[in-house]
Amino acid sequence: MSLDTPERTPATPRPKPGERVLIFDTTLRDGEQSPGCSMNLAEKLTLARQLEKLGVDVIEAGFPIASEGDFESVRAVAGELRETIVCGLARTGRADVERAAQALERAARPRIHTFIATSDIHLEHKLRMSRDRVLEEVDRAVRQARGYVDDVEFSAEDATRSDWDFLVRVCETAIAAGARTLNLPDTVGYTTPSEYADLIRHLRQRVRGAEGVVFSVHCHDDLGLAVANSLSAVLAGARQIECTVNGIGERAGNTSMEECVMAMKVRKEVFGGLDTNVRTTEIYPSSRLLSSIIGVAVQPNKAIVGDNAFAHEAGIHQDGVLKAAITYEIMTPQSIGRATNELVLGKHSGRHAFRDRLQELGFGLEGEEFERAFKRFKDLADKKKAVYNEDLEAIAADAVIQSDDRFELGDVMIVSGSFPTANATVVLSVDGAPRKTTALGVGPVDAVFKAIAALTDTKSELVRYQVNAITGGMDAQGEVSVTVGEGGRKVIGHGAHTDILVASAKAYVHALNKLEWHKRRHGADEPKGI
Ligand code: KIV
Ligand code: ZN
Repeated sequence: MSLDTPERTPATPRPKPGERVLIFDTTLRDGEQSPGCSMNLAEKLTLARQLEKLGVDVIEAGFPIASEGDFESVRAVAGELRETIVCGLARTGRADVERAAQALERAARPRIHTFIATSDIHLEHKLRMSRDRVLEEVDRAVRQARGYVDDVEFSAEDATRSDWDFLVRVCETAIAAGARTLNLPDTVGYTTPSEYADLIRHLRQRVRGAEGVVFSVHCHDDLGLAVANSLSAVLAGARQIECTVNGIGERAGNTSMEECVMAMKVRKEVFGGLDTNVRTTEIYPSSRLLSSIIGVAVQPNKAIVGDNAFAHEAGIHQDGVLKAAITYEIMTPQSIGRATNELVLGKHSGRHAFRDRLQELGFGLEGEEFERAFKRFKDLADKKKAVYNEDLEAIAADAVIQSDDRFELGDVMIVSGSFPTANATVVLSVDGAPRKTTALGVGPVDAVFKAIAALTDTKSELVRYQVNAITGGMDAQGEVSVTVGEGGRKVIGHGAHTDILVASAKAYVHALNKLEWHKRRHGADEPKGI
C-alpha cells in the first residue's frame, strides 16, 4: 500500500440528494454461465424485456466473442431495448473488443465492458504476463472500446486478491484511456465486508481522476458474503452494484439483485437515503420469470423471493401479524409484487385477461407463441377449475420456444401398471420430420425416456429427475425437471402438464433441445466461461 499518494476524495462520501446506486444486471451473462441456467435466444429476450420493466440501469446481455449464440443474444437484446444500457463483455484482446462493438451496433445505449485479471496469482498462472504488460492491455483495450462507444467499463478481474498499489495504477490507466466505470470484482468470493469497503475507500482516495468515474462492485457468493460485501462497498462510495436475479451465477452465485435493492429501500437511513431506480413491485415477477425459464426454483427460505419469505408459521408471530403487520414484517409482500389475493383465471377467462396476466408475469408473448400458450391455457382450464399464476408461468415458459429447436414432441401414449414392464409410444419430429417408436421400460418414465432417446439418437445421460406439483389440489399440474449431461455439459429441462408422464416427456425433450443448441453454439467442447 503506498502512503505517499495524496488523498483525493473523502473516505465516507455523503450521498447527494436523489443520488442513486446503479443496478447492473448480469443475469444474462454471469448468471447464465452457471450450470443448468443456460437460456436460448427467445428466453433471453423475454427476460431482457422484463429486466427493462424492472428498471435496472444496465443489462449485461452476454460475452459476444464466446460464441455465435452469445453474439446473437447481445445483438438481439441491443436491437430491442431502448431505455436500458445494453452491455457486452470483452477481454482486452483486439478481436474481443471489436466483436462486442459489432454486437452492440444497434443499441440505443451501448456499453462495452472490458476486463483483464490483475492479481499476481492470475498474472503468473493464467495470463503469464508482467504487470507492465497488463497496463498496456488496459490502455489499449479501453482506447479501442472508446473508439466505438462513449460508455466504457473496465474490470480488474480478481481485484480483491490484487496488490492495492498496482490496482491504483490499473485504475488510473483505465481512466486516462477513457473508462467511465471501474469495476473491482471479488471474482472468487474471497473478501469480507470491511476489507472490501477499505479497498473501495483506498481507490477512491488514491486514484487520480476517481471523482469523475463510477466505482462498481461485482461479488461472488462463495462465502455467502456477496450481498454484505456489495452493500458495504456502497457505504464506502461504490455507486454501481453488479448482480443477478435470484443470485444465480458461477459456483455459489453472484450478488442477489433483490436482496441489495430491498436492503437499500427498507434501511434507507443506513444508506444515507441512497436508492436505486428499480421498480420493486417487479422484483417478484422477475424472479418467477427467471425460475420458470431456467427451471431452477429458489430455495424456500431465500430472502425476499423464497416461498417462505413472508410466511409466518409460529403462533405468536401469526397472532402479532394479524394484530399489526409491523410486529413481524419489515416490508410488505406487495412492495415486491407478491400479490396475496391473487385472482385466478378459469375456463371463462378470455384472451384479453389471459394476455394481461401473462404481461404482468413478464411474458409478453405474441403471434404463434401467444396462440400456443392460449390453447394450452384453455385445455388446462377445462381440466382444472382454477388456473393460478404458477400454472400460467409454466404454460408461458413452455410456449417460449426457440424457432430452431431440433425436436418437437407430438403424442405420447403409455401403458403401465403392476406388470413387470411398461410400454410407451412416442411421436416426435426431428428437424421437422415426424417419427414414431415404442419402447419398453421398468416403469412408465423409463419407457417414455427410452422411446425419446431412440428417436433423438441422443448420447446424453439422465443425471437427475424431479417431479413437483405446481399448485395444491388433486387437479394440480405436475412440473418435471430433468438434468441431462453430455461431454461435461449439464442442462436442465422442464415441462408441465396435468399428466406427469407427458410433463416428463416434455422436460426431457426440452433438455435435449438445449443440449443441441449448446452444441451448435459452442461445438461439442466444454463450456467456454471466463
Ligand atoms: O467475476 C468476475 O470477475 C467477472 C468479471 C468478468 C467482471 O465476472
Ligand atoms: Zn463474475
